Amino acid sequence: MRRRLIAGNWKMNASVDSVRTLLRALSEFQDDSKDVVVFPPAPYLALAVELTKQSQIGVGAQTCAAYESGAYTGEVAASMVHDIGARHVLVGHSERRSLFAENDDAVLAKTQQALAVGLTAYVCVGETLAQRQVGDEQAVVAQQLRRLVTELAPADWQHIVIAYEPVWAIGTGETATPAQAQAMHAFIRSQLQQVSAEVAERTPILYGGSVKAANAEELFSQPDIDGGLVGGASLDAQEFLAICRS
Ligand code: PGA
Repeated sequence: MRRRLIAGNWKMNASVDSVRTLLRALSEFQDDSKDVVVFPPAPYLALAVELTKQSQIGVGAQTCAAYESGAYTGEVAASMVHDIGARHVLVGHSERRSLFAENDDAVLAKTQQALAVGLTAYVCVGETLAQRQVGDEQAVVAQQLRRLVTELAPADWQHIVIAYEPVWAIGTGETATPAQAQAMHAFIRSQLQQVSAEVAERTPILYGGSVKAANAEELFSQPDIDGGLVGGASLDAQEFLAICRS
């Protein structure tokens, strides 16, 4: 049985005040059958770790460097994220891929850095609208998964979460239908069979893209959807808590 997992990606939205307010509200959440993780911007990670110590909320970074350490001005190493007490990291979010030219090589390197220091990597995949319109969505997602599937060791997958986020559904209010999402999640699981049947069965696959309290229940009830990666709605404590309870 895979555990349920709800992740909140705050993107570039936060202040000391908003982090305190949001985490104070979220720390009331208690449900041993689910994991909840928030991904604040890097400057607030240590504060978020401190504020969530007594709660079941986990904290992660929105990205990490593809390198271990050294002369990479502006970058944040996976080891630093781990050092301050965060245990999760997003890798290859579509905004990183499209706005910061993160390609599959970088996604693999960042995932390897994360795994090497003991972080769980949430690797994001998903097609654009144009790719879906010509029926390429499975080919695109298979390509995004290929290096991970061929180059990571089976044991590494204990610390990998896949997030399927169709680019056309991110921040647009447009959600994949539960059937569209389920079909892609089942396809992703079939790709993971190349690693092993156990990895295919055990790896959590989250859906992301305009998840809100109103659609979470139906999405999360699909057999291959293990939870959500929530952007906009994760900035509203009551909305996010309602999603966590779905
Ligand atoms: P959204 O973002 O929920 O605002 O669509 C999801 C994401 O980008 O992770």
